[in-house]
Amino acid sequence: MGRSDVCLRGKDLLGLQNMEPAEIELILDTAREMKTIIDRDIKKVPTLRGKAIVNLFFEPSTRTRTSFELAGKYLGADVINITTSTSSVVKGESLRDTLLTVEAMGVDIIVMRHAAEGATQFAAGIVKPLLINAGDGAHEHPTQGLLDMFTMREEKGSLQGLKVAIIGDILHSRVARSNIWGLKKMGAEVHLAGPQTLLPRDIDTLGVQVHKRIEEALEGADVVNVLRIQRERQQKGLFPSAREYARIFGVNKSRLALAKPDALLMHPGPMNRGLEIAPDIAYSEQSVIAEQVKNGLAVRMAALYLMLMGGNQVETIN
Ligand code: CP
Repeated sequence: MGRSDVCLRGKDLLGLQNMEPAEIELILDTAREMKTIIDRDIKKVPTLRGKAIVNLFFEPSTRTRTSFELAGKYLGADVINITTSTSSVVKGESLRDTLLTVEAMGVDIIVMRHAAEGATQFAAGIVKPLLINAGDGAHEHPTQGLLDMFTMREEKGSLQGLKVAIIGDILHSRVARSNIWGLKKMGAEVHLAGPQTLLPRDIDTLGVQVHKRIEEALEGADVVNVLRIQRERQQKGLFPSAREYARIFGVNKSRLALAKPDALLMHPGPMNRGLEIAPDIAYSEQSVIAEQVKNGLAVRMAALYLMLMGGNQVETIN
């Protein structure tokens, strides 16, 4: 598929596994244009005026939910947040009925986060509004993968040939999967390291290099992407203690020095400082963690715009 054949209008955004490289490229190029709106004094354009977006989050979120809300609002759409703890879900309303209720209000896009893998795909099969997967279990978090790739491309010029080290809790990480699928499509080399107990069983099918020691993964890396230890999904004691994890797999100053001198330090957030990442490097010179948050807004603006308005050339949005 070439750039001239790409059109995301009317398509769901469920994951990067089945996305074409040209589609990814279109979103990243459009995000660059969207980023200029965020830097304006008046961050509001009428592009999506009259469109309605619902954020339907069954799991907590700060970055994703807020940035989707701002993305819609900056583009002129109406945006409503449904937090399940204050919705009729607590009265026992099912996912299907919740979706049908939202659909009945005539919304155009539902942005959904759910603990179950495949939940957004299930939703897309039930209701007419377009669906964006804002994280489904340990499966995918496509807009995080896109914002991570956008950040790498902005900083390094291209994704082709980059050595990207992804460190930590791969097993529970939808961020890791979206990064792996996206980065490989765009020509990057992905290296993983984490405790054996936090690696998925299908790791050998993902086309990545897996290292037993974190040092091997970090050696000469262009990007170090540190994953959050998902304490909320660790009931089985998958590593001995926090102190032990930080000692063997924590990214600190001396380990970061194994990567290239100009390597980027990334983390999707929220961070467990002192566990997977040392506090003194979290916002150091090499860190682009704050830029990732800003880029997340630009990428989500691009996704909403392309899904609702289409087009395959990057236009100046006024
Ligand atoms: N990275 C990420 O998805 O953060 P939130 O859980 O705060 O949305």
